Amino acid sequence: MGLFNSATQRVPEVAAIPKHIAVIMDGNGRWARKRLLPRIAGHKRGVETVRDLVKQCVQLKVEYLTLFAFSSENWRRPTEEVSFLMGLFMSALKREVVKLHQNNIKLVMIGDRSRFDAALITQINESEKLTANNTGLILTIAANYGGRWDVLQAVNKMQQAAPQLTGHYQEEHLTPHLSMSYAPEPDLFIRTGGEKRISNFLLWQLAYSELYFTDTLWPDFNEVAFNLAIQSYQQRERRFGRTSEQLSEPKN
Ligand code: IPE
Ligand code: IPE
Ligand code: MG
Repeated sequence: MGLFNSATQRVPEVAAIPKHIAVIMDGNGRWARKRLLPRIAGHKRGVETVRDLVKQCVQLKVEYLTLFAFSSENWRRPTEEVSFLMGLFMSALKREVVKLHQNNIKLVMIGDRSRFDAALITQINESEKLTANNTGLILTIAANYGGRWDVLQAVNKMQQAAPQLTGHYQEEHLTPHLSMSYAPEPDLFIRTGGEKRISNFLLWQLAYSELYFTDTLWPDFNEVAFNLAIQSYQQRERRFGRTSEQLSEPKN
């Protein structure tokens, strides 16, 4: 059994500061185009936003921050943009990993890394290894990640692990094989850039997350914008299927 059950099985504690925040960082291209710059300038600028957000999460004592950096569908973009993004990923990892380590941050990559080139795979492995024993913020980067891919790879692993249970699988057989089995499900999901969709991000894990959409483009998503998202989260009533009245009763 995984460390955390699905929210549909057990109602988690609700705190003022979300334990786990998952973000679709969208709007880099439009940010650049508005300034008559090439799209890649927006991606470059977006890395700065990541750095600031990580700092804010450390300050707020958020335990898990999960960022969607590249979807399994993003390979459909022009080759030059894809290779720029891969290069940016590589250079940002190289540049930032020591600082992450100094700040006790543990870096984890989820997604199918087999499609990346060998140098990038090595850099990812080394970055994970360096920060593996850190006990602060757990920063997960989803790259070549897709929610459907995740569920399917988990189904295949579950089948291999317990073939005798075929036809009788329960949630608790599947969840330990999901890419993020080490984390509770996201409390707060944020998507910048105005689109109101999940774009194949964490499909299984977002079942009971609070969803927050903002028109702010990713490079403009500063501390003020992030605080608005947290404030919005704090005004939500998380019921997990129960009634509002039940929530004011002493305990479940
Ligand atoms: C998000 O910004 C970054 C990635 C998907 C890698 P976009 O590149 O999607 O920016 P827009 O949506 O075109 O503005
Ligand atoms: C989602 O953004 C993926 C990432 C931010 C990495 P996209 O810009 O690719 O999403 P769609 O295509 O608008 O759904
Ligand atoms: Mg986009």
